[in-house]
Amino acid sequence: MIARSLELAGHAIRQLAGADVPLIRQLFDERSDFFRLINGDAAFEAEQIFGDVPPSKHPKDKLVFGISAQRADDRIIGLVELLRGYPTQDDWCIGLLLIVPAHRGRGLGAATIAAVIQFVASAGGRTLQLVVQAQNSAALQFWQRHGFVIRDRVHQQAAHGTNASPIVRSAAFGSC
Ligand SMILES: CC(C)(COP(=O)(O)OP(=O)(O)OC[C@H]1O[C@@H](n2cnc3c(N)ncnc32)[C@H](O)[C@@H]1OP(=O)(O)O)[C@@H](O)C(=O)NCCC(=O)NCCS
Repeated sequence: MIARSLELAGHAIRQLAGADVPLIRQLFDERSDFFRLINGDAAFEAEQIFGDVPPSKHPKDKLVFGISAQRADDRIIGLVELLRGYPTQDDWCIGLLLIVPAHRGRGLGAATIAAVIQFVASAGGRTLQLVVQAQNSAALQFWQRHGFVIRDRVHQQAAHGTNASPIVRSAAFGSC
């Protein structure tokens, strides 16, 4: 099935590629508080975003979309990172959903989730799942408000030992 493109009313959204790494790096550098929270390195995360896939997947299964306030505006105010068909063909993963603080709290995160669900369903996906870092409790509440439920936990290295980070998953959508 051919997926429609990801569409977000009132915003421009485009699929990013390797040439956009400096733009992504700028976005991540500005959000260094988030990367500190999750013990991530913003520069490293930006550099490896297109190649970081599980061994069973190919980099072409990684789709990264940049959100701009309007068309013809190169600056990105948000980003969503998707992995197609993982861990099973029916599931898609969200690697990261990030909205810059100046644009938060106006429903853009919620609208992006709705757009991603439509997009994934049109590509034949049935569920969305992601790992929420244990220390990112605000984000966990955000996902739970949008119908995601904790299905499992993954043990991740943290600054002071290991964290049991929740894996949250949407209800099934789309058609079989
Ligand atoms: C989570 C996030 C994408 C929400 O984006 P958004 O555009 O503000 O989302 P909405 O406007 O639709 O919803 C806002 C809600 O998100 C909550 N939220 C979750 N994490 C938040 C954060 N780090 N900062 C501010 N608000 C946050 C707010 O409390 C708000 O709740 P309310 O509606 O009860 O007031 C955004 O806060 C963000 O980019 N956070 C940092 C990155 C992150 O943690 N991503 C999720 C893990 S992959």
